[in-house]
Amino acid sequence: MNYILYRLQRIIKTKTDAEAHLSNDFKRFKSVRLGLFSFIIFWDTTDGLDIVYYFTAANKRQRGLATYLFKKMLRKFAGKRLFMDISPTNHASLNLARKLGFRLIGIRPNYYNHKIPAYLFSYP
Ligand SMILES: CC(C)(COP(=O)(O)OP(=O)(O)OC[C@H]1O[C@@H](n2cnc3c(N)ncnc32)[C@H](O)[C@@H]1OP(=O)(O)O)[C@@H](O)C(=O)NCCC(=O)NCCS
Repeated sequence: MNYILYRLQRIIKTKTDAEAHLSNDFKRFKSVRLGLFSFIIFWDTTDGLDIVYYFTAANKRQRGLATYLFKKMLRKFAGKRLFMDISPTNHASLNLARKLGFRLIGIRPNYYNHKIPAYLFSYP
């Protein structure tokens, strides 16, 4: 009986901790989006914005949707610095970043799957 109570308390404590983290940290995730066709998810930090993920639906690509959303975001958060990691194999993203005026500021070794590096870009 004591053991069951102990386990229950552990589970409840874990759940409470998880909820606290979710409410404190995950609410800092923000997004700009065009429905579900195209979106950018980012983390609003005190010293800038970390781009977490961005996406355009396969049948809507290369029509300027990601460019539109990034430009909207740059206007909305003018003055804040944006950071994003890009895999060297993601040519669409590398082109997009360069076209928007992001610059390469570093290389993070073994970033993806502990094997592939990430190119760290920032704007400005
Ligand atoms: C990267 C991605 C978001 C681009 O979205 P998009 O709406 O097609 O982008 P845009 O139409 O605004 O394209 C802007 C620029 O990106 C580059 N680009 C886009 N698709 C490209 C492709 N298939 N190959 C090469 N360059 C490409 C071009 O420079 C393009 O400018 P241009 O049309 O003047 O040549 C989209 O390809 C995608 O969702 N990829 C899968 C998810 C992903 O890799 N996300 C990023 C990792 S976090």
